[in-house]
Amino acid sequence: MLKLTAIEAGYDLLQVLWGVDLHVEEGEFVAILGPNGAGKTTTLRTIAGFVPAIRGSVTFRGKELRGTLPHQISRGGIGFVSESLNLFPAMSIYENLLVGAYSVKDKKAVAATMDTVFELFPRLLERRDQLAGTLSGGERKMLAIGRGLMPRPSLLLVDEPSLGLAPMPTLATFEALKTLRARGMTILLVEQNVNTTLQIVDRAYVLEQGRVVLEGTGAELLGNTHVQEAYLGI
Ligand SMILES: Nc1ncnc2c1ncn2[C@@H]1O[C@H](COP(=O)(O)OP(=O)(O)OP(=O)(O)O)[C@@H](O)[C@H]1O
Ligand SMILES: [Mg+2]
Repeated sequence: MLKLTAIEAGYDLLQVLWGVDLHVEEGEFVAILGPNGAGKTTTLRTIAGFVPAIRGSVTFRGKELRGTLPHQISRGGIGFVSESLNLFPAMSIYENLLVGAYSVKDKKAVAATMDTVFELFPRLLERRDQLAGTLSGGERKMLAIGRGLMPRPSLLLVDEPSLGLAPMPTLATFEALKTLRARGMTILLVEQNVNTTLQIVDRAYVLEQGRVVLEGTGAELLGNTHVQEAYLGI
């Protein structure tokens, strides 16, 4: 469904990705792991069109995405939940979700997706009219994921949903991703929470200094010596 081939990308004076190859098949739950600064966020931002690739290709359902603008990529079916969340603090949960659906013309579809989001995150329904700026960290993550679902993407990119969360909301967030996946959503997740992530994903890539150094199933990587030493403290 998604395929990155020899992707090189970065910022004005700094090249971050040095030939990244990765793919995600329809219905798969795949993670990108790696240390701070490895280029995980840059990889997601390159897919979503916020960082232009210098070389290589990104295809989604066989179509080249390089040169496509972020809003076109979003309309094409790729949702991006960034680590910075970008919620509108002075708007309610309901209004933030509506903003997320601005590109969807079909009002019935918007209502149906909102029902799905509220079913996935009952807490958001309880607080439907509360301002996003007054939500707890965990609730804001739920809202960001919910908003990412509003344009009805078929592939969801999620950057570090557990960042800054206590163990309980972290578990709730992972549970929501598992539920989404069970319903057929394809997910590419960036995480620092290596142990839990490898237990719930199908496959993962380990990115170090802008290069994929390891890839395998969750079980394979949990048993890998480098992963155990560098990421699991074993
Ligand atoms: N907008 C930017 N301008 C210039 N350099 C940037 C920018 N964003 C990120 N970088 C640099 O690119 C490198 C990779 O950053 P990136 O955010 O992709 O890493 P990451 O793997 O997501 O790390 P983390 O785990 O800390 O989120 C870092 O050295 C970072 O300082
Ligand atoms: Mg990051």
